[in-house]
Amino acid sequence: MSLPKKVQLVEVGPRDGLQNEAQPVPTNVKIELIHRLQDAGLNSIQSTAFVSPKWVPQMADNAQVLAGITKKPGVSYPVLVPNRKGLDAAMAAGCDEIVVFGAATEAFSKKNTNCTIAEGVARFGEVCDEALKHGIKVRGDMSVCLGCPYEGEVSAAAVARLAREFDRIGCQQITICDTIGTGTAGKTRAAIEAVAKYIAIDRLAVHVHDTYGQAIANIYAALECGITIFDSSVAGLGGCPYAKGATGNVATEDVLYLLDGLGIDTGVDMKKLIAAGDYICGVLNRPTYSRAAKAIAAKMAA
Ligand code: HMG
Ligand code: MG
Repeated sequence: MSLPKKVQLVEVGPRDGLQNEAQPVPTNVKIELIHRLQDAGLNSIQSTAFVSPKWVPQMADNAQVLAGITKKPGVSYPVLVPNRKGLDAAMAAGCDEIVVFGAATEAFSKKNTNCTIAEGVARFGEVCDEALKHGIKVRGDMSVCLGCPYEGEVSAAAVARLAREFDRIGCQQITICDTIGTGTAGKTRAAIEAVAKYIAIDRLAVHVHDTYGQAIANIYAALECGITIFDSSVAGLGGCPYAKGATGNVATEDVLYLLDGLGIDTGVDMKKLIAAGDYICGVLNRPTYSRAAKAIAAKMAA
């Protein structure tokens, strides 16, 4: 089985990692984290979300975060956008890439975005048209592809159906997301294979949470399928406020350890990445969730 030689890591810590944080995280801390992540070599950093502050108060400083970044050439700063209001605000703040987000199940769609799957797709269609007209890249994230907290099992056919809708409305990249981390390697493969019947593999990304400790195995299965774009969160921070019990994303340090070990190029520097994780964990006053970061720190201390 041949694995890709190069992979893009999309860092979602500043958005997915912090959106669920109960304590307020100052805007300057979010900006500093983004700066440290880009210095570590990450070239796509999901920076914030232009969602309703009533729904996700932690992302209320979205415009200040985006405007406060000292942008580095070659780095993109995607932001989540749920509707036209969010797109207008994101464009005013100078966004270069947006992420629309739907769900493979009706119940999750309702909980996360207060609309049906079809209503969401119609809303995103308008958002995509407008963004593409302005030269802004569009990605579509598909939640609960490998299990739903409200509906349980999710069929690969339901995932493929949503992917085709996202393709139809103009999403250039489409992400298979395991929102609550219930996926296994077999389920990951089945979802990717179902979607890849319709969408070229180089347009697909994978976003996994690590609730059941399966994230690295699922990423390896995705690599074997030919996926070359993976989301991860520094120090393993995060979780969706509308997916109770789900823990953070897979830690970027752990994914990098896997990829470095396989000789797959990412352009990311482990030491600087761990330092970025230490920074945010220090501010949040908690230990890292990354196994690799813990092990490397212990080895360096010895
Ligand atoms: P709604 O309540 O149906 O919308 O929410 P509405 O149009 O009735 O608006 C309600 C209020 O919010 C109004 O304010 C709007 O103006 C305002 P009021 O008139 O009451 O003062 N509003 C906004 N304000 C700022 N920016 C906006 C915006 N839109 C409306 N864009 C809505 C519908 C979609 C807005 C809401 O459900 C929402 O914001 N949902 C987002 C939830 C969210 O952010 N979830 C976490 C991110 S997704 C995730 O983590 C999964 C992912 O990681 C992948 C995975 O792991 O699965 C991506
Ligand atoms: Mg997520």
